[in-house]
Amino acid sequence: MARLVIEGRRKLTGKVRIGGSKNSSVAIIPAALLGEGPSTLENVPAILDVKVFAQILKDLGALVSLNKNTMTVSPNGFTSHIAPYDLVRKLRASYYLMGVLLAKFGKAEVGLPGGCDIGPRPIDQHLKGFRALGADASVEGGVVRLYASKLVGAPVYLDIPSVGATINIMLAACMAEGTTLIENAAKEPHVVDLANCLNSMGARINGAGTDIIRIRGVKTLKGTCHSIIPDDIETATYMMAAVATGGDIEICGVITKHLEPVVAKLKEAGALIEQNGDFIKVVGPERPKPVNVKTLPYPGFPTDAQQPLTAVLTRARGVSVVQESMYDNRLGYVGELVKMGANIKVQGKTAVIEGAPRLVGSPVRATDLRAGASLVVAGLSAAGTTEIYGLEIIERGYESVVDKLKTLGACIERIED
Ligand code: EPU
Repeated sequence: MARLVIEGRRKLTGKVRIGGSKNSSVAIIPAALLGEGPSTLENVPAILDVKVFAQILKDLGALVSLNKNTMTVSPNGFTSHIAPYDLVRKLRASYYLMGVLLAKFGKAEVGLPGGCDIGPRPIDQHLKGFRALGADASVEGGVVRLYASKLVGAPVYLDIPSVGATINIMLAACMAEGTTLIENAAKEPHVVDLANCLNSMGARINGAGTDIIRIRGVKTLKGTCHSIIPDDIETATYMMAAVATGGDIEICGVITKHLEPVVAKLKEAGALIEQNGDFIKVVGPERPKPVNVKTLPYPGFPTDAQQPLTAVLTRARGVSVVQESMYDNRLGYVGELVKMGANIKVQGKTAVIEGAPRLVGSPVRATDLRAGASLVVAGLSAAGTTEIYGLEIIERGYESVVDKLKTLGACIERIED
């Protein structure tokens, strides 16, 4: 087990470069298996989820090499339609193997995925999509089994704009016979990134980024070279850390368009934000103003940034209300912030946060990835020492978090127990 030890109350200053998007990478890495030849993926973040996915691909028979932030995936030898359960259960995104294996072999056996415990995360919309394309789908003993003698394009209306279902249906449909129409599709940036990558492999996907995606099936896909988009949630987390510490930082290598709701909320909270090309400068106020926020699918305020924002608001001059609309249990981490002196009341999926002048460092535990990010933001702004247990959970999705924060002047250490 590893933990983070933070001496708080140091204003963050300086420059930080953002890595590639976790949620894009975990969709695009398995998509590379669909090419006839090798693919090179650039700007892949050095995070645990990526390493686990690389291992899953190897277990399926593919050749994978990872050199810093460049991954090469060669599907030569990829012959197994059965995903290794011990690895699949480690991350949510392993459910993309369903779409990939079904497209490639017409059959798939994939254990139900793991990932953050933030409430029930059904896959009914994924299965609805596969069935619409002509697959038999069953879930038994924790394993999803899919079979199709042939996949045929069809309209699929999603009851909710699910990111995972949109991506899985795109993966399954890109080599189906005929045209698939995904209605009420998710519009998140990583959906668009995957569509761009698949199109560079020869797929014919239009409309990604809108709520209707049209996929005209092609016979084969080829290998490609694709650069993963920057991580909008990593960016949002550093923005929150700057605001929480009254810091002054420049974040480079970002796509500012993807951050509109976060920029708007942090401006409301009193931050000064300048954006220019691929960089954002954030200057935090001495204490933030309170804000109200409700998480929504893109382009609404992202659920993944809700937890770090709550940490910022614990020091606001007044009362903020945060409503989580995506997941039933994404406020479970609040108890850890309360241990640090935060004054937060949770009712259902709403947190009412009465700001206090300061938090006080204490031992806390990261219960999921973004909960961990929230505790890091809180620890950076708290008086005294914060110890965050469960660092591995944070390292699932944040690249070089200790080094990046040290570069910004944080007093932070990784301790291996
Ligand atoms: N949902 C269903 N049925 C489905 C699919 C989803 O009811 O078949 C519900 C979910 O339970 C949830 C809502 O729809 O309430 C949205 O789920 P969605 O499918 O959009 O999310 P996801 O694919 O499971 C991805 C990210 C999450 C991020 C959400 C929302 C990946 C690997 N995960 O999850 O990221 O919170 O989209 O943007 O891309 C994170 O990075 O920390 C993280 C949890």
